[in-house]
Amino acid sequence: MTIAQITDLHVTTAADPLNQMRNEHRLRLVLRSIHELKPRPVAIIASGDLVDNGLPDEYAALQDILSVSEIPIYYAVGNHDRRAAFLAAFEGPRARRDANGFVQYAVDFDGLRMVVCDTLAEGRDQSGFDQVRADWLAATLDEQPDAPTIVIMHHPPILSGVRWMDPEPDAPWIGQLAEVLRGRDQVRTVLCGHVHRPFHGLLAGHLVATAPASSIQVTLNLSPVDMDRPDGREILVAEPPGYVLVMVDAGHVTTHVCVAGDFEPAVAYTQPFGSD
Ligand SMILES: [Fe+2]
Repeated sequence: MTIAQITDLHVTTAADPLNQMRNEHRLRLVLRSIHELKPRPVAIIASGDLVDNGLPDEYAALQDILSVSEIPIYYAVGNHDRRAAFLAAFEGPRARRDANGFVQYAVDFDGLRMVVCDTLAEGRDQSGFDQVRADWLAATLDEQPDAPTIVIMHHPPILSGVRWMDPEPDAPWIGQLAEVLRGRDQVRTVLCGHVHRPFHGLLAGHLVATAPASSIQVTLNLSPVDMDRPDGREILVAEPPGYVLVMVDAGHVTTHVCVAGDFEPAVAYTQPFGSD
């Protein structure tokens, strides 16, 4: 059984023609690649920054693009989203609110539970995960302590080294999340987006993995940066769009980082692999 994760779609409108064309084209490429996977994933989770400016017109454009999907799509929000406009277009079984109005919920697939968290603080780029959301996550995980689980959240709680995208290393929300994860070993992976690059690290002994963006990627430059003095460095790069594929097999939960595009086949299976 597999589930695909797409992230940072940044769909927009003709008001921003460059981003509109590029991000839509890349998202369609990602969707096509996912639909061509064998076997086809049972679900797609879109982990935030669904649109670029949180505008109703952008969510309408997103609905239009995603309407071609034959795979059910679940949603989380990111810092570029706005809950009211998002929920007006997408609220339903695959985008649910908790009692506090956050877009967070759990889904049970065959052999895998997915817990979707809301890290949005409207008007800020940094994570808004807080004790209220930590308490919700702990209670939700405790509903099924033995079910292999993936946690979805837009903001990664680990450092990428691309400093202008990273949280403060001692940000309180990271400690609050670590407290929840510690000892809750049913959590196999925390899957994130936000940084527009794939990278992996540990928090409280749990694997945290981010997915490449379906839109544009962030340039891999780990040198120090002065947040108040632009130095002309490249910060975004047109590397290919990508996604993550989560595989569940015999209790193993594995993540593949995938590049979307049209690639020439190299070698076909014409000789037996053998069994040893
Ligand atoms: Fe983003």
